[in-house]
Amino acid sequence: MQIVNIKENIFFLGYNDRRTHLFENLWPIPFGISYNSYLIVDEKIALIDTVERSFITEFLDSIEEKTGGRPVDYLVINHMERDHSGALKAVISKYPEITLVGNNKTFPLVENFCPDHSRRLTVKDGDTLSLGKHNLQFQTIPMVHWPETMVTFEETNKILFSGDAFGGYGTLDGGIFDDEINTDSIKEETMRYFTNIVGKYCPHTQRAIKKLAPFEISVIAPTHGPVWRTDPGKVVGWYDKWSSYEPEAGVVIAYGSMYGHTQAMAEVIARRLAERGLKNIKVYDASKTHISYILNDIFKYKGFIVGSPAYNNSLFPTVESLLTAVEHVSVKNHLLGIFGNYSWSGGGVKNLKLFAEKIKWELVGEAVEEKGALKADIIEQLVLLADAMADRLQGTVIPG
Ligand code: FEO
Repeated sequence: MQIVNIKENIFFLGYNDRRTHLFENLWPIPFGISYNSYLIVDEKIALIDTVERSFITEFLDSIEEKTGGRPVDYLVINHMERDHSGALKAVISKYPEITLVGNNKTFPLVENFCPDHSRRLTVKDGDTLSLGKHNLQFQTIPMVHWPETMVTFEETNKILFSGDAFGGYGTLDGGIFDDEINTDSIKEETMRYFTNIVGKYCPHTQRAIKKLAPFEISVIAPTHGPVWRTDPGKVVGWYDKWSSYEPEAGVVIAYGSMYGHTQAMAEVIARRLAERGLKNIKVYDASKTHISYILNDIFKYKGFIVGSPAYNNSLFPTVESLLTAVEHVSVKNHLLGIFGNYSWSGGGVKNLKLFAEKIKWELVGEAVEEKGALKADIIEQLVLLADAMADRLQGTVIPG
């Protein structure tokens, strides 16, 4: 547990989770994650978001330590997902006079967990709440990444308590502030958090960034990852780029392969792309690498070439899972190539073509389908597929 003073009487209460393997029981977090809550001690005391339920006892103790036993007057709920509202019931139990602060989309969600607490303050865009020396202003940023999501702007010190927005995977290993860490080293995990958790809502993220642009923000204090007090524009710039569907010149090749024949096709494509001068080529076996990482690179690079053998007349299951995830996040502005192996029944390439129709990306080259071991005529077709992708990338995309 970490308690750090970020401004006079404003405290970061953060918890590093190095135990959980899968965030949301879905996404790998080998470098862990932090859950950040914030406490403002003024004439009135306000807590901004809570933490995941595993840390309730330490969380309540840390509040007690900084309030000196005074009751907490307000709990601002920027986001109701359980990694931030896991301690909600415990906080209400400890401070029964506390007023919950949220918007009209927040309280229907609160009802699902704490229906009996009636002390509520419903706020809308631009509403303010004075704590004494500190004024809080509220702005909703719907669907970044839940409907009720809002941010709280502390006007006195110009701190934006941003919820999940501008957050990232990774624990805070000593350094809490951006100037205490090598921010370049956290960029990848911040992006993977964005693409995994928020990536479906890129247009909403763009709207949120524009909505917050008029605010003179000195500090961004998210619920995951570091507090940006020196260069908050850096993480905003990252989120802006990632949510704008402007991928770099590069290709992700993902395949399923039982006995290596579809992999051999992927290797031919990758080699040809390299011969054509492409430097950013990522080849993934969909059965080995978690979707989280492949999806992240699909966001990063404009080209996606996917291969599947037929499996019981359909797609190979791990490829099917990957494509379901890609469809789910609705990533835009990509080029698609497809290949696969007929096996004994067909069904791989046939279903990849159906995916191509649904995703509506530009299809480059001809679909290539082998039967069994890789043969010379199919190698030629794979080279043509790689050339078609290289032509489009080198003709239309500025190298990243
Ligand atoms: Fe970190 Fe959407 O909760």
